[in-house]
Amino acid sequence: MELLTKASFSGEVTERERRSLDVAYRAACESIVLLKNDGALPFPDKRVAAYGAGIAHTIKGGTGSGEVNERRSVSILEGLRARDFEITSEGWLTDYETEYEKAYADFQEGRKFKLRLGDISGSVNKLFANFRMPAGRPVSDADLTDGAAGTETAADGQRVPSTNNTVPDGQRVPSTENCIYVISRQAGEGGDRKPEKGDYYLTDEEISDIRFCAEHYKRFVLVINCGSSVDMSFAEDIKGIGAILYIGQLGTQGGNAVADVLSGAVSPSGKLADTWAKSYADIPFSSEFGRLGVRADDCDKSGTTGSDSKKKGAKSSGPEALYKEGIYVGYRYFDSFGVEPLYPFGHGLSYAAFDIDPLECRAAGTDIEIRVRVRNTGILQSDGFCGKETVQVYVSAPQGTINKEYQQLAAFQKTKLLAPGEAQELCLKFDPACLASFREEDACHVLEAGDYVVRVGNSSRNTIPAAVVRLPETVVVSRHQHICPLQQPLKEIKPDAPADAAELSADLPVIPLDPSAFRTVEHTYDDSPVYTDEASRSFVEKLSVKEMAKLVVGAGMFGGKNRFDLPGAVGNTTSDFWDRGLVNVAFCDGPAGLRVQKVSTVDGKGKIKGVEMALSAMDAMPGFIKKRMQGDPEKETPLYQFTTAFPVASALAQTWNTELLFEVGSAVYEEMREYGCTFWLAPAVNIHRNPLCGRNFEYFSEDPFLCGTLAAAIVRGVQHEPGFYVTVKHFACNNQEEERNKVDSVVSERALREIYLKAFEICVRRGGAKGIMTSYNKVNGVYTPTSRDLCIKVLRNEWGFDGVVMTDWFSTMVERGNSALAIGAGNDLIMPGEPLSKRAIIKAVRKGTVKEEDLRRCCANVVKAIQSSATQKEYIG
Ligand code: BGC
Repeated sequence: MELLTKASFSGEVTERERRSLDVAYRAACESIVLLKNDGALPFPDKRVAAYGAGIAHTIKGGTGSGEVNERRSVSILEGLRARDFEITSEGWLTDYETEYEKAYADFQEGRKFKLRLGDISGSVNKLFANFRMPAGRPVSDADLTDGAAGTETAADGQRVPSTNNTVPDGQRVPSTENCIYVISRQAGEGGDRKPEKGDYYLTDEEISDIRFCAEHYKRFVLVINCGSSVDMSFAEDIKGIGAILYIGQLGTQGGNAVADVLSGAVSPSGKLADTWAKSYADIPFSSEFGRLGVRADDCDKSGTTGSDSKKKGAKSSGPEALYKEGIYVGYRYFDSFGVEPLYPFGHGLSYAAFDIDPLECRAAGTDIEIRVRVRNTGILQSDGFCGKETVQVYVSAPQGTINKEYQQLAAFQKTKLLAPGEAQELCLKFDPACLASFREEDACHVLEAGDYVVRVGNSSRNTIPAAVVRLPETVVVSRHQHICPLQQPLKEIKPDAPADAAELSADLPVIPLDPSAFRTVEHTYDDSPVYTDEASRSFVEKLSVKEMAKLVVGAGMFGGKNRFDLPGAVGNTTSDFWDRGLVNVAFCDGPAGLRVQKVSTVDGKGKIKGVEMALSAMDAMPGFIKKRMQGDPEKETPLYQFTTAFPVASALAQTWNTELLFEVGSAVYEEMREYGCTFWLAPAVNIHRNPLCGRNFEYFSEDPFLCGTLAAAIVRGVQHEPGFYVTVKHFACNNQEEERNKVDSVVSERALREIYLKAFEICVRRGGAKGIMTSYNKVNGVYTPTSRDLCIKVLRNEWGFDGVVMTDWFSTMVERGNSALAIGAGNDLIMPGEPLSKRAIIKAVRKGTVKEEDLRRCCANVVKAIQSSATQKEYIG
């Protein structure tokens, strides 16, 4: 059979790869958040003592399906070397390597594959996230003068003994005044992080090393290399931490970006996309998150929210996550309940300093426009620093009949790179309708009458009021049908009193809004037509139930049987219709890039061996299994595919840069085109409800607007040519990994709509997303693939989605949702697909439990996407 693959016989670095690396580098630079700086950064010279597990073993991204198999990644140590830093702690680093190798070998040795049926990927991946890097031996006096210790570089490049090191009182003086210590944490799919030392908390060893370095080096910088926050309370009583960089996990170019920030070649411009709490206990209901679950008495039978409780008092079986904080997630909680964060949402410093002047605030139709001037006033050193600033607009809505958060992010924009003294005018805009609250009694989004205070600044806690938008009467923005009713009472918290707003100056401009300018959107909830285009009609009309079942169930997880083969794809549609003019299309993971197999092989018969696996997972496989799965490049012809690991989503979010994220999306698109991927299984827009969610690194933020806006930029980048699709996931409320296949997210309709669905909505409405992946969990007792409310009412009727809804992998297997019900509920495609699912669908249609018309509609949606795919165009025309 002719070999149909776009993998290459050459492993050379291509132009496309170089371009992607450049995007990855720029994204990494802008992802870095300078949390604190007492003048330690940037370093005045390039000699540095470097410690901590993450120096040489910098974590580029989390594990699991979100892991990208890049050609290679640059660690911070490599980045420092590449940027000509002289490392003065070679002795410690060498000892660390020995310790690391031993710890990793022991970890491999002790590991047993315990695969649970129904969560294959979850249980494999969990194992890799479990490897905790050793701390290394304690940093000590001897390290202060180690490596380059006792030497200095003379003008002619010769190393000469350091004059610094002769210390009369026996105390050693470091051979450099600059030091960094890197804390790294790994996490991944299938398990949550833990509120214990070595994970959310630092270990005693780490703290004592940090204390030592902070005491002994003049400029000590702590670098945090973790997909979401860690506890920082230890730092309170350590003097001498001169600067803190939160780098997140930066992908392949992370080391270079960090080195450039340390040297000052790049001024940090990242802003936090999450609130950092002073203490874990400050996060609402944190003691109940994930594994800790809920107690029966948490359900207050009397205090329901306004939502329609179908079966009052009834509880669904299995683990539950009670979203008792309602809409008060992240800064919405901290601001409204008067809890001081350690670092607020939107915070991030620069080496430059900026002035933000609001110039004008006005109504433009029903939009509000704010013009501001940003000036780089920073002269930290004599020549000053170039830098970028992000202007953030928050709005405090009036506290009417519905409780509201103190403020919510309404707009943001990042400047270009401003030279010292340079200024730029920005025009930020928002549609007040987007700030509407969901009134549960009558299922309407409303803007309540009153004053909306518009605040402008550079973090959620550093703003000034710029205007008051006055709405004389309440406006109904949209009318809905109820969705996902609670199956049990849920008591949500609310603040005792509205948070104190600072006195507003009397001369603040007041912008009147005309209520009659708003047109209430009335949604209709009919079943959408089966066919929305002629091509899919003429193909699908002729298909039998059995044939349709084949098309709505994927062709399985492992490759080898697909006519078009993309080694490393995690799924495909069926190849059975090629002779009727319909190709199979490939699905590849993300979101930190396109995950494919780097090296696979093709044997003499044209069969490709390239089973998908993340690199770290493969690392653990015995050699003979690896060869069976991925072929033997020594004996068979190797095939290559090199894609790029970008910063993880939680880091990308910190760029607050939509243009840059469009570029990231476009770079992913180029890789999809090169290798023939039709559906990229990303971006992932679940909300950071708690910092311990194991997949937070794959998700953007605690704020749905920031998350949705940035993800939509990626969506537009990926889909900027027809035939390539994103798959926005995991729809919805997949906010923990513990028991992800069973957990019921118990959430009010208001919180669901205002917080947990919003980013998906932005990706669909503003990004034009063509794929959605339902999640593993239940929402209010119903598995999401089987929720007609989510798959049809919300997605298609309200948002006008016209793409493909697919399940998460194996989510309709044992104990979980059900493939036939999923098709009946408008979940078009069952992935990765097993014969059982096909049989179940055929049986259900024959019995009448699933309507044939529903199956036909799902099939038409799938066929339409395949027909308009680039793969179809390439092979069939
Ligand atoms: C994950 C998805 C992923 C899929 C395919 C699942 O375990 O939850 O995010 O896209 O596997 O690898």
